[in-house]
Amino acid sequence: MQTTITNSVKIAADFIKKGEVTAFPTETVYGIGANAYDETAIHKIFKAKGRPADNPLIVHVARKADIAVLAEHITPSAKKIIKAFFPGPVTVILKKNEIVPDVVTGGLDTIAIRMPASKIARELIKLSGVPIAAPSANLSGSPSPTNFIHVLRDMRNKIPCVLVGPAARYGLESTVIDCTGKYPVILRPGSITLEQLKKLDKNASYQKRSGKAKSPGLKYKHYAPKAIVKIITNYELGIRNKKTEKAFIGLNKKYAMSYEVVKICKTPEEYAKNLFSFFRECDDKGIKTIYCEKVSEKGIGLAIMNRLQKASTK
Ligand code: TXA
Ligand code: MG
Repeated sequence: MQTTITNSVKIAADFIKKGEVTAFPTETVYGIGANAYDETAIHKIFKAKGRPADNPLIVHVARKADIAVLAEHITPSAKKIIKAFFPGPVTVILKKNEIVPDVVTGGLDTIAIRMPASKIARELIKLSGVPIAAPSANLSGSPSPTNFIHVLRDMRNKIPCVLVGPAARYGLESTVIDCTGKYPVILRPGSITLEQLKKLDKNASYQKRSGKAKSPGLKYKHYAPKAIVKIITNYELGIRNKKTEKAFIGLNKKYAMSYEVVKICKTPEEYAKNLFSFFRECDDKGIKTIYCEKVSEKGIGLAIMNRLQKASTK
C-alpha cells in the first residue's frame, strides 16, 4: 500500500470520509484514526497496528458538545474534568451510548473520550464530520510516536495516509481517568497529574494495578524499545561503565560522560517529552541497554515511572 504523506488536513479528512485510516498529530503522541462509527474502518486500525481486539480505542472529538452523543451520561466527576482540562492531554471514561460500535470499545460498555488541544487534530475531526477513534500510531508494543518520522517508521505502506504536523508537545499519552464512579480514578497517568486532579476533587486517586484490568490496554506490554531498559537510582548512576553501546536518559548531568548516547533533561516535563523519542533513537543506533534515571512519583514523575516500569518489564 502506498502511503500519502501530506500536510493538508483536507486530504487526510478525505481518507477518513472514505472509510480509510490516517495518522495525525496530537499534543500527546501521534494517533492513527478512523471514523468511530465505521466498524470496517476501525478494523483497519487494529490490523495496521497488530493490536489485540480487546484493547479499546480512545474516541477523539472536536467539540465538547459531541461528548453527549457518545456517552450515555456525563457524570459530575467527568463534568469537572471536562470543564477544567478539555481540550488537553486527558481522556475520560464514561458509560457508552449504543451508537458506538463494540469494536471501538473492545466489547466494554464504557468509552474513552478525548478532545485534543492540537488544532490540527481538531481541524481533522471537524473536516471529517465524525468523531475519530484513534490509538497511538505505533506498532503494537513499540514506543508511541512523538513525531511523524516515528510514524513513518512504523506505518509506512501499512496505512494510506500520514498527516504531517509538529512534534508532540508532551510526548506521553494522555492521562486516562475513569469517571464512571463517584470519584475520578486515574487508570493511566499522564501530563495532567494526580495533584492537578486532586485540586478539582480531593477524592481523586490513582489505581496502580487492579486484579481485573479496568483499562485493558494496561495488561499489555507497552512502550518498549528493542534495547533492555534499566531504571537506575542516583547511587547506581555513579558506577562508571566504560563499555560501549550504553545509553542514558535522565536529569542528572553529573554522569553524562559515562555513556555513549545521552539525553540530559532540565525538567521532568522535558524527560517525559523526550523519553519515547530517545528509546527510538537508541534502537536506531543499535544500543543494547538504556539506563533511565529513576524519578520521584510526583507530578509528571508518576507518568514517567509508569512508562519506565512498563518498558523495563520484558
Ligand atoms: O494521548 C493519547 O491518549 C493518544 C492520542 C493519539 O490521543 N492515544 C492513545 O491511545 O494513547 P491508545 O490506544 O494507545 O491507549 C488508549 C488507552 C489504553 O490503555 C486503553 O486500554 C484505554 O486507553 N482505554 C480505552 N478505552 C477504555 C475503556 N473503555 N475503559 C478503560 N480503558 C480504556
Ligand atoms: Mg498506545
